[in-house]
Amino acid sequence: MTFLQLNNIQKKFGEMSVIKGVSFSAQKGEFVVFVGPSGCGKSTLLRMIAGLEDVSDGTLSIDGKDVTYEEPAKREVSMVFQSYALYPHMSVFENMAFGLRMIKLPEDQIKARVLEAARILQIEALLERKPKALSGGQRQRVAIGRSIVRNPKIFLFDEPLSNLDAELRTQMRVEIAKLHRNLGATMVYVTHDQVEAMTLADRIVVLRGGLVEQIGTPTELYDRPANTFVAGFIGSPKMNFLAATVDGVDGGSLKLSHPAFAGGSLTVASDTAGRVKTGDTIIVGMRPEHLTLDAANPVLTLALDISENLGGSTQLYTTGGGEPVTLVVPGRPSLNSGDGLNVGIDASHIYLFDAAGQALRASH
Ligand SMILES: Nc1ncnc2c1ncn2[C@@H]1O[C@H](COP(=O)(O)OP(=O)(O)OP(=O)(O)O)[C@@H](O)[C@H]1O
Ligand SMILES: [Mg+2]
Repeated sequence: MTFLQLNNIQKKFGEMSVIKGVSFSAQKGEFVVFVGPSGCGKSTLLRMIAGLEDVSDGTLSIDGKDVTYEEPAKREVSMVFQSYALYPHMSVFENMAFGLRMIKLPEDQIKARVLEAARILQIEALLERKPKALSGGQRQRVAIGRSIVRNPKIFLFDEPLSNLDAELRTQMRVEIAKLHRNLGATMVYVTHDQVEAMTLADRIVVLRGGLVEQIGTPTELYDRPANTFVAGFIGSPKMNFLAATVDGVDGGSLKLSHPAFAGGSLTVASDTAGRVKTGDTIIVGMRPEHLTLDAANPVLTLALDISENLGGSTQLYTTGGGEPVTLVVPGRPSLNSGDGLNVGIDASHIYLFDAAGQALRASH
């Protein structure tokens, strides 16, 4: 059942168009993540769902009801901000109770709800403390608790973890995933961290410049990115791109040339019939984690610039035909700067895009 629907939503600040027509729907209980570079409109979109920002055009509905012009309090959504926005003079208990007091819920129910949220978030021991006596992670839990007590139809999160250090961030990410599982609530989560997007989302909405680039499950976006923008955004380190020339088109295969290719050329199976012709430039994408060393049938001939030992794996920064190519390989290969590398990749992991960056393959 469609629970949240955005229909051609637009937002202008004065003359500046910031959201240029965004449509998508989320099912009840779904975890949707908005990702995209800074300034692409993620927070603006979330604030429009919350009712904190007027919609310039388009419609918005929640649980079957048009709420495009509904005031925030009546939408039954709750937002968790990056800055936590706790009241410094109130205890943790009072911070969580505040919204419920505003709607004049009876005191015994307020207490029950706050205690239940505190139990879920494991902050029962902190209820009497003021925010300044809490760590960043604890403050964030209180901010989330304030949402939980309101039992909203939709939880909205705007980069809730970006003020936390790396370890706490990972821990809270897992906590949020558990919270979603336990509450079964519909959540819309904004981040520019693609790891958070990949791990938390049922579906990801990739935004750029106020437009949707692609919507899909994390696996769909990783396996079948619609274009080089999505391909480069999802996955870390970023996908390698090589602009190759089409030397020949032969039914089901393309013969490509690029100085990084072993022997200068590469033949790939392709279902791009009719869309590519000899002389065209196409972009070949290869993910760092799909590249292998010491290949029997090398696809790339690369020269090592720098290797970074990450403990369990090694990141290799190389150059091929003047282009940078990154590899992530298991273990700690013993290599020196300047070494030549014969690098392989499974043909099913080669991505192809046209010169404008649109995916050429229906599937991988
Ligand atoms: N109140 C405002 N008045 C004018 N322009 C605004 C306003 N709020 C946001 N913008 C502009 O709208 C665009 C989108 O902003 P938004 O905050 O939604 O981006 P974002 O994707 O959340 O970025 P970030 O990842 O940096 O948080 C930006 O260019 C921003 O400058
Ligand atoms: Mg933002």
